[in-house]
Amino acid sequence: MLNRRFIAVTALLAASMAAGAQTRTSLKEAYRGNFLIGAAIGTPQITGQDSRGDAIVEAQFDAISPENALKWERIHPKPDTYDFTLADRYVAFGEKHHMFTVAHCLVWHNQVPDWVFRDDKGNFVDRVTLLKRMHDHISTIVGRYKGRIQSWDVVNEALNEDGTLRQSPWLKIIGEDYIAKAFQYAHQADPQAQLTYNDYSLEIEAKRKGALALIAKLKAQGVPVTSVGLQGHNSLTWPSVEDQDATISAFAKLGVKVVISELDIDVLPRAAQHPSAEVSLKVLEDPKLNPYADGLPPSVQQELAQRYADLFGVYLKHRDVVTRVTFWGVTDGDSWLNDWPVKGRTSYPLLFDRSGQPKPAFQAVTRAAADVKTMN
Ligand code: XIL
Repeated sequence: MLNRRFIAVTALLAASMAAGAQTRTSLKEAYRGNFLIGAAIGTPQITGQDSRGDAIVEAQFDAISPENALKWERIHPKPDTYDFTLADRYVAFGEKHHMFTVAHCLVWHNQVPDWVFRDDKGNFVDRVTLLKRMHDHISTIVGRYKGRIQSWDVVNEALNEDGTLRQSPWLKIIGEDYIAKAFQYAHQADPQAQLTYNDYSLEIEAKRKGALALIAKLKAQGVPVTSVGLQGHNSLTWPSVEDQDATISAFAKLGVKVVISELDIDVLPRAAQHPSAEVSLKVLEDPKLNPYADGLPPSVQQELAQRYADLFGVYLKHRDVVTRVTFWGVTDGDSWLNDWPVKGRTSYPLLFDRSGQPKPAFQAVTRAAADVKTMN
């Protein structure tokens, strides 16, 4: 009898210790003194509908990014209509939880209404008109949250894969200096805010070279760019640890900080031809592209954990210049990769599973920080 009770108590203790071990060290605690750990949040977390998600965000992260709430189409849908409802709640969420609050993004070619670039007849407006619209947008939004948003993604994805400037309406109408202007307008509206140039696939050499040239030019002109955001939409094999390392080093040499701004690691078969995060990309549904609809095999789960450990090893190596690592979503169920570039896939790119439980990748990431502490 005594023996049986002893076994039961020991089992209970072991179970609670295991649970404790899982939750004992949060991501933000593990990385304190290295860099901030953030998560992108959406309407369900901002409005409190997703209380499970909110509990994870509050316990684990010390920075937030808005997945869509501050994009032009949401916050400024019509010429004279700003809608701050969700953005205000987002900023209030960050303040309530004392979080480093990021805004994303001011100038981009996606999720921006067409009216921005056109006159009443549907023709492209001229440079002066578009600069004025850009200025009004930036000064209104950045001004509204002055001192409450710590970091802005000012220009998003201005580059092509070959490192040349993307032929977006911004470039076509204003010319190359639209980037410098956007940073200047943001700086005027909040001189204290950190200002980021954000893009994907900067680990690919040609695109990286274009970005380095762009940032070097902006810095030489005295444009107030404080950091580069490497989006970090990665796969199990791309980018290599060497390329990630070289990319961070190269930007650090220019005297800007580096942010990993939208981290996820896709374990699904690649549907696009090249590593990309172009949101307009669409690939037809195909069961072959959705192999883990019924669950992730343990071997892939381990691969994902190892891959996260390897990448965090690189970020930690550069902790003097890496100021923040932000995951693009809270749990696997929230990830945009369930619907991009193929609709309706079951994706596993983050550290928390669909029921909100930490995955082996979570332990791998916290362990990576502990290993560095032990080495020092
Ligand atoms: C994505 C969001 O996650 C989706 O909800 C939305 O439908 C499309 O945009 N790079 C970026 C982000 O800079 O803004 C994108 O976010 C993902 C790729």
